[in-house]
Amino acid sequence: MQPRSWLPERLEGELVVLLRHVPSNLAAFQRWYSDPEIARLNRHESGVMRRDEIERFFSARVVGPDTLSLAIHVQATGRLIGTCAFSHFDGDNGSALYHITIGEHDAWGRGYGTEATDLMLEHAFERLGLHRVGLSVFSYNERAIASYRKSGFVIEGTLRQAIRRDGRFWDEHEMGILADEWRTLRRMRSIDREPADNRALSIAAGAAVGAGPGAGPAGDQPRR
Ligand SMILES: CC(C)(COP(=O)(O)OP(=O)(O)OC[C@H]1O[C@@H](n2cnc3c(N)ncnc32)[C@H](O)[C@@H]1OP(=O)(O)O)[C@@H](O)C(=O)NCCC(=O)NCCS
Repeated sequence: MQPRSWLPERLEGELVVLLRHVPSNLAAFQRWYSDPEIARLNRHESGVMRRDEIERFFSARVVGPDTLSLAIHVQATGRLIGTCAFSHFDGDNGSALYHITIGEHDAWGRGYGTEATDLMLEHAFERLGLHRVGLSVFSYNERAIASYRKSGFVIEGTLRQAIRRDGRFWDEHEMGILADEWRTLRRMRSIDREPADNRALSIAAGAAVGAGPGAGPAGDQPRR
């Protein structure tokens, strides 16, 4: 597999647009990854990354040749708010791991992260032809878990008390979504957007082929 050739120039959503990172985004990375709250939410090690670590990470994993990392910009204003990426491509088994960080606190909880994840999953399943996307998340990161569930991820397993933070141990969840589950979710969302009369017909048709509302991802329905 050749990840670089898979990098799109842009993935267009309604709330956000994902663009290739440019070298000047390093300044934002330095700010985001030296933020203790961000470190608490997405870093196994306690404490923040050093400036030189952030710079190495940016060169190797964000703008490097073997990454699929995209910048998250607000669609309406163009503001850079975060980054999302796939890592650990496994061509033999059609899988990858997903990562997302919205570094700007005032951009949390506005639907940006969920839409960015939706765009990345569409790219993974429709254009890269992946079969499975996984991720890991700390149990106290309830906003992230809610957002991942909305995108169709389900908790597949738990590493019990794997994280020591705030003076106690916390679980780390492994979440995943399969290509078929994502397609079912997409079909259900498009049915939700249809006018009521069409919706009844679509649900009836979907039920006939086993794709109705009861056939969601692995028995764990996303919240919307
Ligand atoms: C995790 C992250 C990507 C989510 O993106 P976001 O844009 O903030 O999330 P969204 O607004 O799309 O969705 C968040 C959902 O969680 C819900 N939520 C927010 N805070 C919550 C909380 N404390 N508990 C439970 N649910 C919560 C919101 O209500 C929303 O659901 P709704 O739309 O049904 O109301 C983003 O917050 C982020 O990058 N945070 C910092 C770094 C991080 O945690 N990265 C992930 C590491 S695994």
